[in-house]
Amino acid sequence: MSPAQKQPTTLYGGAKNRRVTVRDLAAAKERGERWPMLTAYDAMTASVFDESGIPVLLVGDSMGNCHLGYETTVPVTMDETAMLTAAVVRGSKRALVVADLPFGSYQEGPVQALRSATRLVKDAGAGAVKLEGGERSAEQIELLVASGIPVMAHIGLTPQSVHAMGYRVQGRGEEAAQQLLRDAKSVQDAGAFAVVLEAVPAALAAEVTRSLHIPTVGIGAGAGCDAQVLVWTDMAGMTGGRVPSFVKQYAQLRSVLGEAATSFADDVIAGDFPGAEHSFA
Ligand code: KIV
Repeated sequence: MSPAQKQPTTLYGGAKNRRVTVRDLAAAKERGERWPMLTAYDAMTASVFDESGIPVLLVGDSMGNCHLGYETTVPVTMDETAMLTAAVVRGSKRALVVADLPFGSYQEGPVQALRSATRLVKDAGAGAVKLEGGERSAEQIELLVASGIPVMAHIGLTPQSVHAMGYRVQGRGEEAAQQLLRDAKSVQDAGAFAVVLEAVPAALAAEVTRSLHIPTVGIGAGAGCDAQVLVWTDMAGMTGGRVPSFVKQYAQLRSVLGEAATSFADDVIAGDFPGAEHSFA
């Protein structure tokens, strides 16, 4: 079966000629059906994932580390997010495209959040936005949802707070677990359509998942979540250096691409490229 025909999820049952919507994701939770989400930062990669049947593409602020060469997600700007979101929308036909609100674009309050989210939805074409924070972001979520913008929340390890929390597993210990449960309930009550749980003990993530009627999307949160997300460059072995222990690598693209580049260089140096078949008469 070619990637173009592949439909690993029945989410597409009712969504053959349109994009997946947040209603499709709500219905999947009711059916107890799991779904995959991948990050994407450009049109070509988005088209590959879209044709492979990935129903939700996240233009994550992980673009900072994985695409733009920053050390963290913190420096990512609205201009960068809007440009990459528009590219992912152009490259995909069926996936719901979720754009991450970058650090500094929503923390001031609901009105700033609405201005930023409106740009990503109206100008860049996103179908939803994602923001970090539980109770602390509830007012932002409420206004966005009241304004007609679907919101995916993100709790547990929130990388935009790296300078305050580091990259550590969250929700360990009774007090932290209770806070995570409160955060999850709070974003659901504020109207989020889904919530990412990052770096959370598997048993706690499963408890959160059982206690919510909206889907949970796990990353380093065990198998008990409704959906799973990975950063595509980690998933495909494109990331240089170490990847987090919760990542499963499904390919080794970095070495494949490196070998292709070396072969090209060798051919050019040896005078073997271009051949007659690559030249005009
Ligand atoms: O930016 C991102 O890629 C994310 C995922 C890790 C959920 O927020």
